[in-house]
Amino acid sequence: MEPSEYIPVKASQLNLYRKIPFYYETSSGGFALYKPIGVTLSEMRIRYRMLPKRLYIKRKNKVEAIQEVQSEFNREIRKCIKEKDLVKVRGMVQNLVQVTLDEPVTGSLEGVSPTVNILVGEVTKNRDIVKVLFDLTSRDYTTTRHSVNVMALALGYAKYTNFDKHKMKVLGLSALLHDVGKVRINPELLKAPRKLTDEEFHEIKKHPGKGFNILGTCKFSNSEIRTTALEHHEKLDGSGYPDQKTDISQFGQIVGIIDCYEALTNDERSYRMAINPLSALEVIRTEIVDAGKFSRAIFKNFAQSLLNIYSPT
Ligand SMILES: [Fe+2]
Ligand SMILES: [Fe+2]
Repeated sequence: MEPSEYIPVKASQLNLYRKIPFYYETSSGGFALYKPIGVTLSEMRIRYRMLPKRLYIKRKNKVEAIQEVQSEFNREIRKCIKEKDLVKVRGMVQNLVQVTLDEPVTGSLEGVSPTVNILVGEVTKNRDIVKVLFDLTSRDYTTTRHSVNVMALALGYAKYTNFDKHKMKVLGLSALLHDVGKVRINPELLKAPRKLTDEEFHEIKKHPGKGFNILGTCKFSNSEIRTTALEHHEKLDGSGYPDQKTDISQFGQIVGIIDCYEALTNDERSYRMAINPLSALEVIRTEIVDAGKFSRAIFKNFAQSLLNIYSPT
């Protein structure tokens, strides 16, 4: 099926766009302009009381739209930095998590959201963690959303496999912080809306090691959190990076699988289309698990934990 020329705007992002025009679906099934370029929706509402249920942007504006969301978010964050307001930063991180939970890419995460909120509440009391998260958030909105999604899915996994409270918390944190090394990677590479060259990919492959080092400087860091950052791209057959390990920690493996799944289903990457959850599981099973790169047992648990998320009891 041909993808539609229009894609819906996420509710949480409706007021962020100035440069991107919005469209609505007319009663005849066509699309018409709703918000022109140059104003935000909140400025328009003064003039128009009626807001269509769904607003859309043109698919060809997607890259530009992601850039605009990112820069708006950065502006807010910079304001917080200037005011040195830790409470506000906490609020922003919490808000980001909330938004992600309200509009997850993978379906409803209701089952885990209380745990996520408690975890985030605790996490954001720790200055070291806030600082690391802060660096990541202000640089790369897409990676931040990705990290929050990976954390939520990891907590779903922990709940399904009955991890105790402490283990659940450490896994959640490991998942949230697995990509912090990306703050030391050229942001242009992370945002490039195209396939990377070998050299560029070589640069990106340094983020696990960099993450390991950054987390080593944080007081809170227990060894699992650091190890997960280092190992989440390793594969059991030794084909991963950075160290071609075949002996990978449990959390490294869990976050590795979830990371793959999230990347395949996330629709906020500018350079390719997301696929649906079932297709993503199928791709991971046939191309990665069957090839001996991921543990079949962990994959099975993860797939089951997703079913739990979809149909909470
Ligand atoms: Fe990564
Ligand atoms: Fe990742």
